[in-house]
Order: sequence, then C-alpha cells, then structure tokens
Amino acid sequence: MLINGKTAVAGVIGWPVSHSKSPLLHNFWFREYGINGAYVAFPVAPGRFESAISGLVALGLKGANVTVPYKEAALEAADLVSDEAARIGAANTLVVLEDGRIEARNTDCFGFTENLRHGAPGWQPQRAPAVVLGAGGASRAVLVGLLDAGVPEIRLINRSRAKADTLSKQLGTGGSGRIRVLDWEERSAALQDAGLLANTTSLGMGGQPALDIDLGALPETATVTDAVYTPLETPLLKAARHRGNVCVDGLGMLLYQAVSAFEAWFGVRPDVTPALRAHLLGADLPAARPA
Ligand code: ATR
Repeated sequence: MLINGKTAVAGVIGWPVSHSKSPLLHNFWFREYGINGAYVAFPVAPGRFESAISGLVALGLKGANVTVPYKEAALEAADLVSDEAARIGAANTLVVLEDGRIEARNTDCFGFTENLRHGAPGWQPQRAPAVVLGAGGASRAVLVGLLDAGVPEIRLINRSRAKADTLSKQLGTGGSGRIRVLDWEERSAALQDAGLLANTTSLGMGGQPALDIDLGALPETATVTDAVYTPLETPLLKAARHRGNVCVDGLGMLLYQAVSAFEAWFGVRPDVTPALRAHLLGADLPAARPA
C-alpha cells in the first residue's frame, strides 16, 4: 500500500494497545476499497490522554477508536457526545468533524445487534425476553443495543448483583422498566421462554473457567451469543449448538462495531466478509473481548 502526502489517518488509542486487532481490520478495508488510508495503534501513557486528543485535531486525523482505560475519559474530552455513548457512559470511537470539533460515539451496541441480525436472521427482538449475563463494560453496550431493538424484557444477571442493580437504575429511564435484575443463582431458571441468551462475562475465555449454566430451560428456537471470541466457539456456544440453538460468536461484534467507525471516518460502509474473518483469525487472537 502506498502511503503518500494525501493518506488519511486514523488509529486506536489505549494503554496498552499493541494487542488491538483494529489495525488489521481497518487496513484490510483500505486495501479492499482502494482507500488511501492508514490505521495505527497509539499507545498513550496515563496522563497524556487529553493532549493526545488535541493532537488528533491538530494533526488532521479522521478520528480514533478508544479502548481501555480511556473509554470513559473520551466522553469528557469530546466536544459532542452521541446519544448511545451518553447512555452507555463510555465511548469507543472519536470522530473529528469538519469544523474540528470531536464527537464521541459508541459503536459497540450497533456491533452487538448488527452481529445478531447477520448471524441469526430469524431472531425477532420484540418477541421474547433476553437473558444477559454480566454487568461490566460490554454488558452496558449490549443492554442499550437490546433496549433499542425493542426487546420486551431483559433479565440481567451478574455474580455481583449490586452492579446489575446500578446498571439497571442507570439505564432505567430509557429502559422503561424493561430490565429485571435476578440473582446469579437464578441464571439457569431465567432461561425459560427466552429468545436470546448473551454472555458478556469473561467466563469461557481461554484461561478462564467455563460458564456454569444448565441450558435445559432455554427454548431450542432461542439464539445464543457470547462476547468472548477467544476461543471462537466457547464452551457455552458449543453446548448451545449441540442442542440446536442458533449460535453467534463474539468476533462479529468486534467486526461490526468497526464498520460503523470506518464509515464515519472514510465515508464508505465496509462489508464484513468471510475473507475479513479469515484475515483476523489468521492472526494470533489474544484473550480479549470487544470492550
Ligand atoms: P468488560 O468491560 O469486558 O465487560 P468487566 O467490566 O471487567 O469487563 O466485566 C467482567 C464481567 O465478567 C463482570 O460482569 C464480572 O462479574 P462481577 O461484576 O461479579 O465481577 C464477570 N465475571 C468475571 N469473572 C467471573 C466469574 N468467575 N464468575 C461470574 N462472573 C464473572
């Protein structure tokens, strides 16, 4: 790829950031669509985030993704905050607008629902309750995505119940009481009549214990998805596949959140293709989730 005086630049800001798969993703799309662009990782040390953000505008970058530990700080640093980012309480994408202002967005909820729409076209969000396990950063984006998709009831279950209660209260206004918090011990029984089970905990990730849950009560028509994508087929997805549930892996969430960011920066809505998935899977995926 030729880098010249007209190359448009974007990147990902984090600390550490060398594990990020976003450079692989975006640079694949530059090649695919013949765009004169480059996407790089910016390791920004603690205390330097604010100056890095000013630098984005000063250097004429299109924008940046933001990852741990700056997702909340990105909201403060931006001039404008999108509705989703405000509700989630974190941003993963910064867009430098024409006038030089920075807008903080969160494309993780789009990534989550878009992944499901492609991977489980039969999933009808309005028809049945969803069960969401976990109440961390990934869970917030998943909840906003599900609320906006019109899910009638979300059964939110976390090992530390207090975190789920707080999350439910924070999203309460927009959620119009649709989030119901249950105890961790109720996770198997909560699957009754559900149309979707989403794991947003780190359980099932390589090196972590598997999620201990009895899928017996889950309808066979339900969709099961996991935010964990290392391994691609977690023990949860394997068990669900064996009993006939439609399963959607977590890699798609990473890919689709990037679609939205790429379009905002470069004006082209890229496709998620088998070739792109293979490109990422060919790389050594670290034990991580799209958070
Ligand atoms: P992320 O931002 O990726 O969502 P996180 O904010 O650290 O990561 O959240 C991790 C989630 O996995 C939390 O819901 C956590 O539960 P707690 O809030 O109780 O800590 C959940 N989790 C991690 N290890 C777990 C375990 N052994 N059993 C049950 N839940 C676990």
